Amino acid sequence: MSTSIKLTVELGERSYPIIIGAGLLQAPGQLVPYIHGSQVLVVSNETIAPYYLELLTNALVGCQVDTLILPDGEKYKNLDTLNLIFDCLLEKRHNRTTTLIALGGGVVGDMVGFAAACYQRGVNFIQIPTTLLAQVDSSVGGKTAVNHPKGKNMIGAFYQPQCVLADTSTLATLPVREYCAGLAEVVKYGVIADVDFFNWLEENIDALLARDPDTLAIAIKRSCENKAKIVSQDEREGGVRAILNFGHTFGHAIETAQFYCDWLHGEAVSAGMVMAAELSRLLGWISSEDKQRIEQLLIKCRLPIWAPKTINGETFMELMSVDKKVLDGSLRLVLLKSLGQAVVTSDFDAKCLAQLLSDKE
Ligand code: NAD
Ligand code: GLY
Repeated sequence: MSTSIKLTVELGERSYPIIIGAGLLQAPGQLVPYIHGSQVLVVSNETIAPYYLELLTNALVGCQVDTLILPDGEKYKNLDTLNLIFDCLLEKRHNRTTTLIALGGGVVGDMVGFAAACYQRGVNFIQIPTTLLAQVDSSVGGKTAVNHPKGKNMIGAFYQPQCVLADTSTLATLPVREYCAGLAEVVKYGVIADVDFFNWLEENIDALLARDPDTLAIAIKRSCENKAKIVSQDEREGGVRAILNFGHTFGHAIETAQFYCDWLHGEAVSAGMVMAAELSRLLGWISSEDKQRIEQLLIKCRLPIWAPKTINGETFMELMSVDKKVLDGSLRLVLLKSLGQAVVTSDFDAKCLAQLLSDKE
């Protein structure tokens, strides 16, 4: 195993480490300190379990270890699947000191986190993210949720894990399309808050696409640093944390319109980021050149840069109106004041949004 990197999400008594490194699943010593009771439920899915479940359970000696394999897919991120976790916990008589471990991507992580928040009013959980998206974003920060047919991530809780263990070796088995979807969230950090990282990404994108281990380690670390810093300032999204949703209002509308069955989350976010950048350009806040730089980087990442034509402007507006950032009936969007500086605002010319959505059709 190569050396690991340890970052901290600073949240007072809820602070926790993000441990990043290759081969961490084979180093149980990194995990054991965060398991407090004598019971563990590892939850994974039918795709990931054959690769990594045994490796993990072999490392968990000396306690009751149960496992649960969920069906794979965003369309299963719902209350019915959540109930499978509760059924299993009750059948196996897990008590309040149990630890839930999420072994998987953002779908498994979001559901297991929410189950941990609810089971017996809250039990410990650990995130072991196995997709790039989960390693740079969803496993960090304590947002947990399931989808509702009328809206993405609409039922959930803020609930922090005990630790995040990101074994970068697991990315070797990740399909290209999923890997590229994860790059959308990596690019996001550069666009919203870290222009130096954006410049670095432009220079290193080929190595990143080739999954060069050193380049990948830098990208994951820098992404997690950005996320941890923002979450530490605003755990429950009263303010600055909302910038992490750049591109997501448009992206979630795309995912909901497709019944969570077509584009991947990162793909929808990619298109959403370009739409938000274009709106920022229409408002005169960023230059055409900066918008093109964002677009070009996402194209290099093999990501879509505009919403599917099948979703019309009216549907978009309707779906965006249930966004969690809507406040007192007014739509708030994350827009760019410049490359590397995002703001959350309802103070934009609605005509520009209408123009954006009609340009789309
Ligand atoms: P995912 O969990 O569906 O995983 C993508 C696919 O890759 C799945 O088919 C999965 O089985 C497979 N997979 C996972 N790891 C693998 C591996 N190592 N090798 C081979 N296959 C593997 O999708 P995702 O992109 O990880 O996460 C998307 C979800 O995360 C969405 O539901 C989104 O809403 C959520 N999300 C949450 C937050 C948050 O802050 N909580 C942030 C961003 C996204
Ligand atoms: N992915 C957005 C957030 O964690 O706030």
